[in-house]
Order: sequence, then structure tokens, then C-alpha cells
Amino acid sequence: MEGKKITFERNATLGEGAYGSVFRGEFEGRQVAVKRILLNKINKNEEECLRKLKHSNIIKLFHIESDNDFRIYALELCNASLDQLFLGSDDPRKYNGPMPPDIVVFLQLGLGLEYIHFNQLIHRDIKPANILISVRSTDRSDEVTIKWADFGLSRAVNERGTFTLSDIRGTEKWRAPESLKLLENAQEEDEPRGTVQSDIWLRLLKADGGEAFGAKLSTSAFDLLVSFGLADEW
Ligand SMILES: Nc1ncnc2c1ncn2[C@@H]1O[C@H](COP(=O)(O)OP(=O)(O)OP(=O)(O)O)[C@@H](O)[C@H]1O
Ligand SMILES: [Mg+2]
Repeated sequence: MEGKKITFERNATLGEGAYGSVFRGEFEGRQVAVKRILLNKINKNEEECLRKLKHSNIIKLFHIESDNDFRIYALELCNASLDQLFLGSDDPRKYNGPMPPDIVVFLQLGLGLEYIHFNQLIHRDIKPANILISVRSTDRSDEVTIKWADFGLSRAVNERGTFTLSDIRGTEKWRAPESLKLLENAQEEDEPRGTVQSDIWLRLLKADGGEAFGAKLSTSAFDLLVSFGLADEW
């Protein structure tokens, strides 16, 4: 039987989603992020992914419990999500802490994503709000680690790295163009399929001088992804 070991303050909110909320809390004497989702909205894939994936660039799951209404997850507590980096300076949620150079952010994200895909999973909701920044400070330096979070839309792919596009497909604004095209032509095709490459689009957006970092990314970062086999040459 699951024990009730997670505690949190209802007003210590870290984030809000469509079906749940994230709070600052405690689990076994450790500060954690507590993600609480309505029982009828939980996605078993999220739990399975988090249980399976163990990597420094993926958020760690410590414990799961339920009450009558909610499923409650104790997750590794991070300092902010990447979207908070781009908020206006007057926004109280603005992240002003240390960040590594873009190339290091991309490398860490690439390593995490490579591991996700190696495990025959696809994230499918890649966007700054689902990427977390973790800072470990010592007397001498700050060690920043970038982590993938929110596996609420993730799912398994077959051995060819493809999946059917017949169900939910991520946040529209951040959807890969080939996924949009596939959906557009969906009526003409028997069974449209997406691929793990759709998880790469965020990086292409950034390589384009895109919204996320708001600055042009050097081509070397993109070359790095190509050499990882994480993106196709263009
Ligand atoms: N482990 C964490 N540490 C710090 N902040 C977090 C953590 N997990 C989530 N957050 C904050 O809460 C926000 C929402 O979290 P998350 O993306 O996991 O849930 P969600 O979007 O509500 O989920 P869903 O998309 O499944 O509805 C994140 O963008 C981030 O700002
Ligand atoms: Mg999210």
C-alpha cells in the first residue's frame, strides 16, 4: 500500500497546467516539486516514462501517491523552467539565475533527448515551459543542469521510431512542420505517422534565431545535433 508521505503548501505554487498544478513541497525530508493531477486526467504514459528514464538531463521522480481526487508526484525540485528566462524583468516569475552558454544548453538537451529516443519514447510536447533549470551552488561555482520535464504527452514509438498521429499531438505553436503537414494530409493517408524527428523542431526554431533564446544560435550547435544523429542536415 502507498503511504502518504508527500506534503506541500497550497500557496507555494511553481506552475499551473490544464489539469493540474505544481507546488513546492517536501518528501522524506527533501525539498521537492509536487505535481498534482486530477485522477480522471492522468496519463499513465507520464508515470511509465518517468519511472523508466534515469538520466541527469531528465527530471527525477521520487514517489507517487493518490488521494480521492488527485494523483500526486514528488519530483526533483528545479529552480525554474526555461520560459521563465524570457519573461519581462518586472515579472515576479522571471528567472535571473545563472545559465550556461547556449551550446551547453543544447548539448544537455540533446543528450537527454537522445536517451529518451534510445528508450523508444517520444516526448511530443517540447517547449520552454517543459524544460527545467537546476542550479547546484557551491562556494566556488554554480553548476547548472538542464532537464526535460512534463511527459504528459509522451508515448512509445515502434522500432522504426514512428508513432501514429491519430491522437493528441502536443502544443500547436510548438508543433513540428512535418507533423502539421501530415495532419493536413491525414484524410488522404491511411494512417499518418509521426517520427522521433518531430522532437527536434524546437532546436530548429532556435537555430533559426527563434523565439526561445531570442538570439541567433551558432551553426556549430546545429552541427553538433547533426553529428549526434538528432537532426537532418539542411
Ligand atoms: N520539478 C520542478 N521544479 C520546478 N518547477 C517545476 C517543476 N515541475 C514543474 N515546474 C513548473 O511548473 C510548470 C508546469 O509543470 P509541468 O509542465 O510538469 O505541468 P503541466 O504543464 O501542468 O502538465 P500538463 O502539460 O501535463 O498539463 C513548469 O512549466 C514549471 O514552471
Ligand atoms: Mg507543461
